[in-house]
Order: sequence, then C-alpha cells, then structure tokens
Amino acid sequence: MTIQIAPSLLAADFGRLADEAYAVADAADWLHVDVMDGHFVPNLTIGLPVVEALVRHTRLPLDCHLMIENPDRWAVGYAEAGARSVTIHAEVAGAPIRTLREIRKAGARAGLAFNPATAVQPYADLLAEIDMVLLMTIEPGFGGQEFIDSLLPKIRQTRELISAHGGEIWLQVDGGVTEETIGLCAEAGADMFVAGTAVYGAEDPAEAVSALRGLAAASAASADS
Ligand code: DX5
Ligand code: ZN
Repeated sequence: MTIQIAPSLLAADFGRLADEAYAVADAADWLHVDVMDGHFVPNLTIGLPVVEALVRHTRLPLDCHLMIENPDRWAVGYAEAGARSVTIHAEVAGAPIRTLREIRKAGARAGLAFNPATAVQPYADLLAEIDMVLLMTIEPGFGGQEFIDSLLPKIRQTRELISAHGGEIWLQVDGGVTEETIGLCAEAGADMFVAGTAVYGAEDPAEAVSALRGLAAASAASADS
C-alpha cells in the first residue's frame, strides 16, 4: 500500500495560497482543496476561480473535496479546470453515477465522500465507478477538530469492502489527522491522509508532511506483518 499525504489548504493562509502550496510542493503528494458553499456545511471557502488559479501556481496535483449542495451541477467543472481528483459527497449527490463518470471523462480521479454518520455499505455496488473513497473523521465544515476515534471500525470495514471489490481504490481519511492519529488510520487500512492543522499549523509544513508519512508507513507496515 502506498502512503499518500494531502495537506489541506483550509489551514493555510488564504492570502498567500501560492506560497503555502509551494511550501509543501516537494514533500506532499497532493494538495487538498476544501470547497464549501455555506449550505451543505456551515462554512464558506473557495470555489472554481481560485482552483483555476491554483492549478497555474502549483505543480502538485489538486484534490478537490466538494462540500457543496449540488455536486451534480458543479463537479465536472473542477475536473475541467485541471483538478486531478474531484470528490463529491454521497449525502447530496442526486445522480452519483452520472457525476462520477463525468469527472472521470474530464480526466480526473473520481472520489465519493461519506460523513461520519453515512454508511458506505449501501454504495458497495458503485465501487467500480470510484477511484477513491473519502471517509470524514470529523463532521465536515471546519479544520482543527478532534478526530472521532469511534470511526476506526468504519475505516477497517471500508478497507475490507474495497479489498473484496478488487481494483485499486484509494481510501482517504479527512479530519483530525495528526501525528497522534495517523498511525491508527493507517493500521485500519487508510492509505491517503488529509491533514490541515497538523501541516500548516506546524513551524515547518514540509517537515510535518514527512513526519506524518513516516508514522503512517510504519503503522501500515506493522499492520501488514
Ligand atoms: C473539513 C475539511 C478538512 C479539513 C481538515 O471539513 O474537509 O479537509 O481541512 O482539517 P484538520 O486536518 O485540521 O482536521
Ligand atoms: Zn477536506
């Protein structure tokens, strides 16, 4: 299992986004961009124009996490703008298969996200349409929240579901991922880790990414053996 780290710009300085992206460009695998519309979640962040600008200002691939009410309408635009991964939420996707296919057709990886209280199992038949499952490990909307550790069994069960399906589907965890919690997530089967506060709240964001990667890799290896 390859470990991937995606720093979340939500915890970065929004006035210096290009610099903040640059700070992790050599250390990270992806840049996680949280798009919030103030409806699906009680917070408003950035949208398509900023993503278009970011594509031009970083060489890291963008991993856009759409926390918006109408992903069927907007998701494909993010893929067309150059995001390499676009994730929609299961709770609000009215036509998830169509939207996931549109994302892939536009050249991006298609992700499906689940809030803490949303079960993954009912979506098992959709796995063929999905490149990444995102499990929220906090209630979405804000960074800096505490990891909900009662979700560890859900990570484990989702990994089993993915293994039973076969193929290469990444399992991303998002929310409260820190040096204290990343090992638990890796051990449970996650292989892609979003970290906002743990990266941009650190003195040296690049070093924080490397430290998180080391911890995840060590736990994944010990879970394998
Ligand atoms: C919250 C976002 C997360 C957020 C995580 O809804 O989806 O990506 O940035 O922040 P931390 O890592 O601080 O919990
Ligand atoms: Zn996110």
